[in-house]
Amino acid sequence: MHQAQPPSCYLCPLCAVPLQLKQKSYVCANNHHFDLAKEGYLNLLPVQFKHSSEPGDNKQMMQARRAFLEAGHYEPMAKAAAMMIAASQPEQLLDLGSGEGYYSRQLEAFCPHTMSLHGVDIAKYAIAAAAKKQANARFIVASANRLPYPDQFFDAVLRIFAPSNDAELARVLKPSGLLLAVTPGPRHLWQLKQFIYAEVREHALENPLPPGFERLDTQRISYKITPNPQQRLALLHMTPFAWRANEQVQQAIEKANDFEIETDFMLTLAIKSV
Ligand SMILES: C[S@@+](CC[C@H](N)C(=O)[O-])C[C@H]1O[C@@H](n2cnc3c(N)ncnc32)[C@H](O)[C@@H]1O
Ligand SMILES: [Zn+2]
Repeated sequence: MHQAQPPSCYLCPLCAVPLQLKQKSYVCANNHHFDLAKEGYLNLLPVQFKHSSEPGDNKQMMQARRAFLEAGHYEPMAKAAAMMIAASQPEQLLDLGSGEGYYSRQLEAFCPHTMSLHGVDIAKYAIAAAAKKQANARFIVASANRLPYPDQFFDAVLRIFAPSNDAELARVLKPSGLLLAVTPGPRHLWQLKQFIYAEVREHALENPLPPGFERLDTQRISYKITPNPQQRLALLHMTPFAWRANEQVQQAIEKANDFEIETDFMLTLAIKSV
């Protein structure tokens, strides 16, 4: 007797028809195959859609990010984000640009209800590391610009310092689905930026929402951290301004006596309204 196939949550990245799990591979009706990696993640980024051989963060960046985050410097923000998301008790939740999965793990730790947790990142090493640490979440390598999920699949999307594509975001969320975006507030990492810029400028306080979303709540979370020299460098490499820091600047950041760095996060909760 044939067993009924469970409905698939993935679409084939080549022909957009549903993928079904057959043993350790996901297969579409047109016989495109995607094997589950030994760490349990799925690579749904076909080579023809990659713009470089190793898109996103590399292994070294991923490890530095994990070390910094696991030291707890961003835990107050992660906890606040988890609380904001958990209040709506989403069943299907996507961590978009999940990196090595720190926030997915925090979500699981802080959310009392059960949910299906999905993570997407374009960086293979990050997804492999995320999948290895959280076997009950479903991590895939894919681009935010082509999410291989059906329309209206998710109850909520978490996007923490990650790029996204407005149209794809709106497509994969259910009607009245929630988006929680975490972006830098005006004074985020001010003291680190002082090593790099002659004149540090504040970020804008408000972030524009994607079209078709309405703001429900904004929380600003700011506090000071005192990372050690290695953590300061890891933090630098997590930022978009790292490329401006030459060898001399990096040494100055590493060699400086311990100093406080302001964090400043904007947590914006929005609802899909059309
Ligand atoms: C600044 S990191 C944030 C990661 C994680 N949310 C965090 O805060 O630690 C941005 C992440 O977005 C990923 N990324 C970059 N471009 C992407 C894309 N087009 N689609 C999906 N992820 C992407 C990077 O690989 C990286 O893991
Ligand atoms: Zn296919």
